[in-house]
Amino acid sequence: MVAFLELLNVQPGERVLEVGTGTGWTAALLTALGAGVTTIEIDPVIASAADQRLRATGFDAVVLIGDGAEGAPESGLFGGVHVTCAVTEIPYPWVEQTRPGGRIVAPWQPEFGDGHKVLLTVTEDGRAIGRLTGTAHYMMLRSQRGGFHLPEDTAGAAETGTCLDPRQVTEGGYGADAAIAGMLPDVMALPQHETGRFELLLADTGGTSWARVSRTGGAEHHVRQAGPRRLWDEVADAYQRWVGWGRAERSRFGMTVGQNGHQVIWCDDPTNIITP
Ligand SMILES: C[S@@+](CC[C@H](N)C(=O)[O-])C[C@H]1O[C@@H](n2cnc3c(N)ncnc32)[C@H](O)[C@@H]1O
Repeated sequence: MVAFLELLNVQPGERVLEVGTGTGWTAALLTALGAGVTTIEIDPVIASAADQRLRATGFDAVVLIGDGAEGAPESGLFGGVHVTCAVTEIPYPWVEQTRPGGRIVAPWQPEFGDGHKVLLTVTEDGRAIGRLTGTAHYMMLRSQRGGFHLPEDTAGAAETGTCLDPRQVTEGGYGADAAIAGMLPDVMALPQHETGRFELLLADTGGTSWARVSRTGGAEHHVRQAGPRRLWDEVADAYQRWVGWGRAERSRFGMTVGQNGHQVIWCDDPTNIITP
């Protein structure tokens, strides 16, 4: 939380929207830093307890009950949005409700790999642009909780082999995670260690295709893939592209949320978009 507060870098008197009130602790810290805080919580019981706690301890934050994905449209423009639940897609209302030059800090949890802190700055023309800055593990925003799911029909898989170790792909580091998530935003990954033999499950969010890659003790690993897409092939290609970029570190990647709300990932420069 401190790392996010440092990223947001609120200025005294600045209006800040917090998404995900929880205990009220972050709202209290933002208020203590001099911000004018509006905080929104989807769970009415949690919101009311936080409201009472903030009042009892003398912190003057406005607590709203509602879906933070909509922001607080009745509350005017904010200088910053501090998000304390993870999102796969940045909801566009957060961009619309932030003044040009204002910042949005959020935990970005893509479908593939680890979560990342993102710091976005809102532009005059209604976009939000910024870099990935570190790791973040937060509970998901309620409306974006999907979770890994395989298509119901998993019969009829094509069986092949791969020399690329699936463990290497999922443990390639934060840069690899960000690159693959950027290139394949709708591919979900579930690494499995339980059976003693590493397996990587892949599925697309559209529910059309899946893959199961099982690590063997040898040089070739076992691949089963089904559906119109060959998801392991796509992930392996994306991984090799990342290797070709000199195994780019996470700090080289960034995000742009466009005027239409569409989110893309880029490498090095916002013009070098890697999202298809
Ligand atoms: C990690 S906690 C936030 C911690 C909080 N900032 C604190 O200082 O205690 C995430 C909170 O986000 C809330 N939440 C989840 N989805 C939400 C949504 N769509 N809108 C608003 N709040 C949401 C959860 O109910 C939970 O209280």
